[in-house]
Amino acid sequence: VIHQREYLLNGELVQWSGDTMDILSPVFVPAQGGGFERKVVGSIPHTSPKEAMESLDAAVAAYNNGQGEWPTMSVEDRIKCMQKFVYLMIQERDQVINLLMWEIGKTLGDSTKEFDRTVEYINATIDALKDIDRESSRFQQAEGTLAQIRRSPLGVVLSMGPFNYPLNEIFTTLIPALIMGNTILFKLPKHGVLAHYPLLKAFKEAFPPGTVNTLYGKGSEIITPIMESGKVNVLAFIGSSKVANGLKKQHPKVNRLRAILSLDAKNAAIVTKNADLDVAVSECLLGSLSFNGQRCTALKLIFVQKDVAEEFVQKLSAAVSAMKAGLPWDKDVKITPLPEADKPGYLKECIDDAIANGAKVVNEHGGFTNESLVFPAVVYPVNDKMKLYHEEQFGPVIPVVPFDTIDEPIQYQIEASHGMQVSIFSNNAEEVASLIDPFVNLVARVNINCQAQRGPDVFPFTGRKDSAEGTLSVFDALRSFSIRTMVAAKVTDANKE
Ligand code: G3H
Repeated sequence: VIHQREYLLNGELVQWSGDTMDILSPVFVPAQGGGFERKVVGSIPHTSPKEAMESLDAAVAAYNNGQGEWPTMSVEDRIKCMQKFVYLMIQERDQVINLLMWEIGKTLGDSTKEFDRTVEYINATIDALKDIDRESSRFQQAEGTLAQIRRSPLGVVLSMGPFNYPLNEIFTTLIPALIMGNTILFKLPKHGVLAHYPLLKAFKEAFPPGTVNTLYGKGSEIITPIMESGKVNVLAFIGSSKVANGLKKQHPKVNRLRAILSLDAKNAAIVTKNADLDVAVSECLLGSLSFNGQRCTALKLIFVQKDVAEEFVQKLSAAVSAMKAGLPWDKDVKITPLPEADKPGYLKECIDDAIANGAKVVNEHGGFTNESLVFPAVVYPVNDKMKLYHEEQFGPVIPVVPFDTIDEPIQYQIEASHGMQVSIFSNNAEEVASLIDPFVNLVARVNINCQAQRGPDVFPFTGRKDSAEGTLSVFDALRSFSIRTMVAAKVTDANKE
């Protein structure tokens, strides 16, 4: 249990003496008066808009209109700071992994992967920056003008992210923004906040004062004044499009705010009658249920051609029933407690709505709920009258939609308000080829015979419509959090050499 009092402001770990907010685990433990309750894993400062504005001022002062120590530091020196950060971060590996399990219920294997992947991401970002720097130190000459093209920072970045990858996803915006010379206001996620506690010192020791400032408390209280100040230059937000749109509107000059956003997604899988059903089942299982389906890239709707639908559903149900549910640190466990308190109720609502409209839960124990633990449900046959067809369930429920012709899933994607990824399962090369073009113009990534996912992290990560704004990944993020500037000179006889 960690009772955190410190927050990082202007290079100091300031001690908070006011109210604190309890952090509850998704894991239930016996309660004193009988029954069960969520375990309290710690507490954090419940800071107010006053402290939030102090953090903003610190980030603005450290940027200092691009004249501060960090934005003017050489690329080599910024890289050294980042390497020091990685070194200090690695010392905290075990504690961060442990906190991820307790705070968000991620399995030991996935929590470990999240930590290690984040370290790899930072190292890859450092390498990518070296490449970008080499590129920018080259000169370009055209029409009698000689130019040195650079990449310069943008200003103050507000970085906010979700509970499902509290370390990794947030760092996919924070780290590139930071290493490009921007200064950072980092609003910690609601779940997964304590997992960052061991890293506070690393930020303090690795970077100049004011470069990274942390924000705690309720987002609804502290973020509005920050956005309304107009002093944030870049909003880096991963979450729902509804929240992102609200935040953007709070900025007084909304059009001058750069937004790098990763948002809604209800990625479809399309299993045609020509698919290898075993491959389709194992990839759909992974895609739908890794971390209980709580991934923006999860497969959240599975279209199956009618000829093979019954067989697919049978195989998928058997595979789901064989999954082990339990605590994050237990061996072979794949399904774990959900951190969002209202999620089990919401999932039940979705399942009930599907049943009322003619679908069934086809797997044994599907939808069975014990406090925060929800056993995955395969729901079939789902149609467009049901919530599960339209809403992003972000949890362990797999809706399966039978279809006659491929026009149906294409039409679904045309009408959808989002467009992140799709997975197509077919062993017929001609069929696959004919589906790539329609889908690539509707989503940002088409997966063939494999689940949807973000990685490898050097690939571009984005979405269409309400799924994203800007592009993340190692290289693209460095570009997103910077502006191309240049120094240009006329080539005259005198300076030709
Ligand atoms: O929630 C969205 C994450 O970026 C998904 O990443 O596909 O590697 O699980 P992943």
